[in-house]
Amino acid sequence: MTRLVVVSNRVPVPSAGQQAGGLAVALDGMMEKRGGLWFGWSGVVGEAGRAALAAVETQAGVDYATIDLTREEHDRYYNNFSNGVLWPLFHTLPELMRFDRRDAASYRAVNERFAASLLPLIRPDDIIWVHDYHLLALAAALRARAVTNPIGFFLHVPFAAPDVLAQAPEVADLVRDMLAADLIGFQTDNDLANFVAAATQLAGAIRLASGSLSFGGRRIRLGVFPVEIAAQNFARTAAAMANEAAGQRLRESLAGQDLILGIDRLDPTKGLMQRLSGFRRLFERHPAMLERVTMLQIAATSRKDVGSYRSLRAAMEAEAGSINADLGTAAWQPLRLVSRAVDRTQIAGYMRLARVGLVTPLRDGMNLVAKEYVAAQDPADPGVLVLSRFAGAARQLEAALLVNPHDPDAMADAMETALTMARSERQARWRALWATIENRSPALWGRSFVASLLRAVARGSTKPEQRAALAHEAEILLPAAGAEDRVLH
Ligand code: G6P
Repeated sequence: MTRLVVVSNRVPVPSAGQQAGGLAVALDGMMEKRGGLWFGWSGVVGEAGRAALAAVETQAGVDYATIDLTREEHDRYYNNFSNGVLWPLFHTLPELMRFDRRDAASYRAVNERFAASLLPLIRPDDIIWVHDYHLLALAAALRARAVTNPIGFFLHVPFAAPDVLAQAPEVADLVRDMLAADLIGFQTDNDLANFVAAATQLAGAIRLASGSLSFGGRRIRLGVFPVEIAAQNFARTAAAMANEAAGQRLRESLAGQDLILGIDRLDPTKGLMQRLSGFRRLFERHPAMLERVTMLQIAATSRKDVGSYRSLRAAMEAEAGSINADLGTAAWQPLRLVSRAVDRTQIAGYMRLARVGLVTPLRDGMNLVAKEYVAAQDPADPGVLVLSRFAGAARQLEAALLVNPHDPDAMADAMETALTMARSERQARWRALWATIENRSPALWGRSFVASLLRAVARGSTKPEQRAALAHEAEILLPAAGAEDRVLH
């Protein structure tokens, strides 16, 4: 069996003891079974970062290999280029982009350094799966070092239209670098279509009749693999946590008012200021709601060294204070803003208590909070999801109240509709939403990508034994008949 090598900027190093993120949940089982190596940044910033060799630790059959970043790399590669150029651009917010050639050069150099440090760890029968916008140049950097192993790439964030991307001088080259992979996966059809447009217009790839791409004499398969949550587990956690102490304290503090809940990283793509405008507008358009609702917005501090994140925090605090001062009374405070990180299981309980889940990003690759909110509801008396049409999740969660986050009046009306919706309609909408997430899981998502990568490489192989072996392995991982993803061959 091939070993799975996962490469991502952040690595869930066991000894660091962080909560396992979504990707770790998705890949743990598969890596433990077939053996795995997870490679990336240690999370440490320091001058020892220059060491070429990765530090390796092993747990449950999985090796975790990490390198540190130097202070300058952290500033330029992570803060300035990944989060100050690619992140806003890929989310179609080019006005937030701050481009500097030296940052682009550092981004490329860190991708090269990742490749150089990973190289001695790669075995002939490994398959390599690279994740997200921090590592767009990695597949090409590995190929330049004569790595011929199968390489898959998955983009967790949206892929923007080519004329938006072209605003960063470096991006055409990065699109070309992405084409060094054998399979490139996206969250939605829209992202895939934008990538095809960019690859053909900016990088000179050719679209084949099957939908896949040809570049430099190689074929690159493309697929859509929406990221999922463990819905059944989350539902159980939410039901239990709503009755635990923290859930009870929140319920009591509401004193019978309905709860509108927002859970986000404090990030300019999340539409938080627009959300607050919509909330303010709720009381102007529907004064009957005064003193009847409370909004809890958890906006966990994130990427605080990036300027746009710092100014967003200041703006949010000012606007939250102003809403409470303008609308609040001696006995009622309309908005609670929390920027401390809150434990995920506690959040599950809060979600179950909320009559309205407000997920209104300006753009988002998927947004798993939307799926979690659905999973957390009490089927007998569910709350209502108000969801931005520009979140990847909107393509699956069509029974939510879909809104345009740029229109505060529409958001206000959607909140009011949600707050006054009859129980029968809430139940009907919830059942439709639950049906779309109930039987999926992060583990299935991970297997589906890896099986597609194995099939893609099997199809392209000229060696009959390799073809058969890879196809067989893919079939064991996920029978083609059961695969829900869409891959263009
Ligand atoms: C998004 C990205 C991930 C990233 C996460 C947290 O979900 O797609 O790649 O890890 O945000 O951001 P951070 O900058 O803290 O890693």
